[in-house]
Amino acid sequence: MTLVLTLLACVIHALNLANKSDASNKTCFGGIDGSIRFDIYQTTCPQAEDIIFAGVEEAVANDPRMAASLLRLHFHDCFVDGCDASVLLDDTPNFVGEKTAGPNLNSLRGFEVIDSIKAELELACPETVSCADVLAIVARDSVVLSGGPTWQVEVGRKDSRSANRQAANTNIPAPTSDVATLIGKFQNLGLSSKDMVALSGAHTIGKARCSSFSSRLNGLVGSSDASMGDRDFLQSLQQLCASSNNTLADLDLSTPATFDNQYYVNLISADGLLQSDQALTSAGSGDVAALVEAYAIDPELFFEDFKASMVRMGRLAMSGGGEVRRSCRVVN
Ligand code: HEM
Ligand SMILES: *[C@@H]1O[C@H](CO)[C@@H](O)[C@H](O)[C@H]1NC(C)=O
Ligand SMILES: *[C@@H]1O[C@H](CO)[C@@H](O)[C@H](O)[C@H]1NC(C)=O
Repeated sequence: MTLVLTLLACVIHALNLANKSDASNKTCFGGIDGSIRFDIYQTTCPQAEDIIFAGVEEAVANDPRMAASLLRLHFHDCFVDGCDASVLLDDTPNFVGEKTAGPNLNSLRGFEVIDSIKAELELACPETVSCADVLAIVARDSVVLSGGPTWQVEVGRKDSRSANRQAANTNIPAPTSDVATLIGKFQNLGLSSKDMVALSGAHTIGKARCSSFSSRLNGLVGSSDASMGDRDFLQSLQQLCASSNNTLADLDLSTPATFDNQYYVNLISADGLLQSDQALTSAGSGDVAALVEAYAIDPELFFEDFKASMVRMGRLAMSGGGEVRRSCRVVN
């Protein structure tokens, strides 16, 4: 039965991808070469997805923000030399990891959740499920548990033996980016401006520190970001952030813990939290602003595009060989 399903999934996969050149080298029953596909774990660790889902469920029950934090981990992993769990490696006296890179330091969270899920996976099926795949599945489960869409996660990624702090600083866009910079950072990795707009919708859940948007709060006319204007929104954020730059604000002020299309609705009423969020509707952003409007009107369209873009982001591959780490924090 499993084999039949496996075959069916592969056929559907192949049909779906038949006219997309980027998939031409992905094999269905391969995987030895590090290629990704749907279902290796159905035979090698059939409990894997259930173990992972239960772990995410428990973590989110204990801390509702954790869904957002786990979704973001996969993004910060994939944008640095591919989805290879490089983001999970700890710094040591002889090893420079990515956790101390600017976009990650004092900001990324959820590492303990990954540790605990990985420990259970190692008990059930030792050295089988890669940390990079755990991140990809956990990201999907976090979206589902927040009320968003589900999709099949391609698996078969390997974990890197190295990290790249420099690339973490360069590749991950800053919250002060303008729209051209955002598009450029995605295009550098082979992702489109549409992927950029759809994936930015992840900011429908989670929080940001005041330091991530404090440059917007001076309210100066003609400053780099006049889009805040003289509004209640600006005043409430100024008040919130008055005592500390570590205070947290909801990225989606209206439905902060629900994965929906409200992020785009907010942008249209100029209620985006980060300068990089609001930049999507800035003057001259053309196609990007049109997509924001389309997603604000049509939640199903957003969900469809978001799923497809998550799969594309999840295919960003590392170069060279990898391993299945026993502990996600250290190479074997
Ligand atoms: C388009 C460019 C992007 C920029 C400039 C950006 C920037 C940021 C910043 C500055 C924060 C707040 C960090 C802090 O203050 O500690 C944040 C949070 C977050 N980002 Fe992004 N991000 C981008 C794209 C994405 C993508 C593609 C995803 C996932 C698909 C994502 C998921 C999230 C989530 C879920 C949070 C909340 C995390 C939490 O509450 O722990 N972001 N982002
Ligand atoms: C597929 O593999 C061939 C040979 O290894 C390579 O030349 C080609 O660039 C690859 N195509 C893609 C889309 O990765
Ligand atoms: C937050 O950081 C900004 C920029 O560095 C600074 O101007 C502001 O005074 C800080 N706010 C607080 C409350 O420390």
